[in-house]
Amino acid sequence: EQLSGASNKLAGKRALVTSGPTYEALDPVRFLGNRSSGKQGHAIARALSLLGADTVLVTGPTHEPDPVGVKIVRVESAAEMLTACQASLPVDVAVFAAAVADWTPAQVATAKRKKNGGAPPSIELVETTDILATVSKAGNTRPRLVVGFAAETENLVANAQAKLARKGCDWIVANLVGGNTGTFGGDSNEVALVTARDVETWTRATKDMVATQLAARIADTLSK
Ligand code: CTP
Ligand code: CA
Repeated sequence: EQLSGASNKLAGKRALVTSGPTYEALDPVRFLGNRSSGKQGHAIARALSLLGADTVLVTGPTHEPDPVGVKIVRVESAAEMLTACQASLPVDVAVFAAAVADWTPAQVATAKRKKNGGAPPSIELVETTDILATVSKAGNTRPRLVVGFAAETENLVANAQAKLARKGCDWIVANLVGGNTGTFGGDSNEVALVTARDVETWTRATKDMVATQLAARIADTLSK
């Protein structure tokens, strides 16, 4: 009877989580990336799985260990992450914790770019597809609960509320980055849970604790 009580609140439910950075190729050896560690997203996948959810983790390149019991789909680019997320639908809840590149090179060189004595190349970028917004507006296959993240350096709550409305998700987990709040790579996180109705500021906690708290909230909401 180890699986009774808190550990089976999400039994029979399906969850999708994105995590890590994306890598956008410039040529066969170079990419544009970011410093996301994947710690928060991986912890959320682990926490949902511990509550009994059938969990798929779509992740960019990280050094995090694979969460036990979670189906892992490894991707590199934002475009690959979108395809993998769409392939994992339908789910009951989707949590988009990945730091998806906002821009990707317009062209990927098929051979390594070489210095040839001229001026440095400039790189033309195009915007990536917003995975969170796409899944939030997916019609028939929209998960019942869609949770996004927002990393902001200022105006945390106002920016998060604007993102919630623009993207059409249900909740935004907002956190301040930069300065001493250092989220990227760190083990703790100070977040606000922003919904259409209200804003809850959570006390600073480890990323594992934030994940556990978020998974419990998700379980409560899906049980109603
Ligand atoms: N996101 C996504 N696909 C993208 C860009 C962002 O799914 N192409 C998701 C992130 O995983 C996160 C949320 O959108 O859950 C917000 O990401 P964020 O970078 O804070 O917002 P942006 O809309 O990209 O706005 P900006 O970076 O300009 O603040
Ligand atoms: Ca962004």
